[in-house]
Amino acid sequence: MKLLEPFNLKGLQLKNSMVMAPLTRARAEGNVPNQLMVQYYAERATAGLIITEGTAPSPNGLGYARIPGIYTREQIEGWKMITTAVHENDGKIFLQLMHTGRVSHPENMEKGARVVAPSAVRLNGQMYTDTKGPLSYPEPEEMTLADISQAQDEFLQAAINAIEAGFDGVEIHSANGYLADQFLNTATNKRHDAYGGSIENRTRFTREITGQIVKAIGAERVGIRLSPYSTFNDTEVFDGMERQFLYLVDELKQYDLAYVHLVNNTALGSPDVNEDIFKQIRKRYKGNLIMNGGYDRISGEEALIREEADLISYGRSFIANPDLPYRFSYDLPLNHPDPDTFYTPGEKGYTDYPAWAESQVAEVQ
Ligand SMILES: Cc1cc2nc3c(=O)[nH]c(=O)nc-3n(C[C@H](O)[C@H](O)[C@H](O)COP(=O)(O)O)c2cc1C
Repeated sequence: MKLLEPFNLKGLQLKNSMVMAPLTRARAEGNVPNQLMVQYYAERATAGLIITEGTAPSPNGLGYARIPGIYTREQIEGWKMITTAVHENDGKIFLQLMHTGRVSHPENMEKGARVVAPSAVRLNGQMYTDTKGPLSYPEPEEMTLADISQAQDEFLQAAINAIEAGFDGVEIHSANGYLADQFLNTATNKRHDAYGGSIENRTRFTREITGQIVKAIGAERVGIRLSPYSTFNDTEVFDGMERQFLYLVDELKQYDLAYVHLVNNTALGSPDVNEDIFKQIRKRYKGNLIMNGGYDRISGEEALIREEADLISYGRSFIANPDLPYRFSYDLPLNHPDPDTFYTPGEKGYTDYPAWAESQVAEVQ
């Protein structure tokens, strides 16, 4: 099977072509990686490449309860335990850098941290907080040019910290309505300065942080995630969206990144996705491409055979199946993920999904 073939990711040898997609699991009490997370990631080192859960580059970027950061000494040391365990199990691991921007609430943040976004547009709905339950999203502060420059510095320092923590690379989260995607999208970016108002300007934030991180840690250690046509977190499909993503991808060519990671949210009920964009990107972008969104064993394999992507990432299947590549290789049944425990603290629904061998022993007993 192509999914099980090794892959050379710009010099990083992956043992198969299956990637574990970034998955926020909210088990980092105090926003610091811990032993429970070591176990979770070590068990999933069966993937050719793990991309970690979205991780905050700074206090301003940490909007959800119990998500980890990578800006304090303690967090870096915590992540070191995880990268060591994954490498000991012959796995490879990238850290996803996620600044939540307006998808945030002060109750989930450190004192003094600020909810910032390209424009002061409030997200509809509520966000879960550990202290007070669900609360309405606050109106974010519109970022000044100094705020933008600060956020970029935070991304850069976080990438440098990730390398110190032993990661094989970082993935810039520029998808799903978080800060970088808030710059890309017209629903969230109403600016008229160098960071808004045109295709070139809306893509500037993402392009600049990519360039800065590449310069600091090397292009072969940088990937980026994009979700064209996703309307997640109250973003919108807008006139010229396709041209904008094609322009951004063209701009990214100059960096020769480890990969571009595309999310196709069609399978997750996003009605607005025009899937033609993925074909167009594949045609004009010659670097490594990871595709994601609703793949199973057969459709993932077919996508590789049709050369629609170089690697396939799996999210929910890796939540429930720590040994997903093994199960695929023998076409074994899969455990089903339990959405009720996606974001709850503790082991339940996190480290208690059995590998195939364990489930067979349990059945015999
Ligand atoms: C519980 C959960 C947490 C997620 N957290 C993140 C995240 O931190 N960063 C991100 O880019 N995507 C995140 N996603 C999206 C997944 O990476 C992936 O795009 C999605 O699950 C679709 O892939 P699948 O059909 O293989 O599950 C999350 C999805 C789920 C179900």
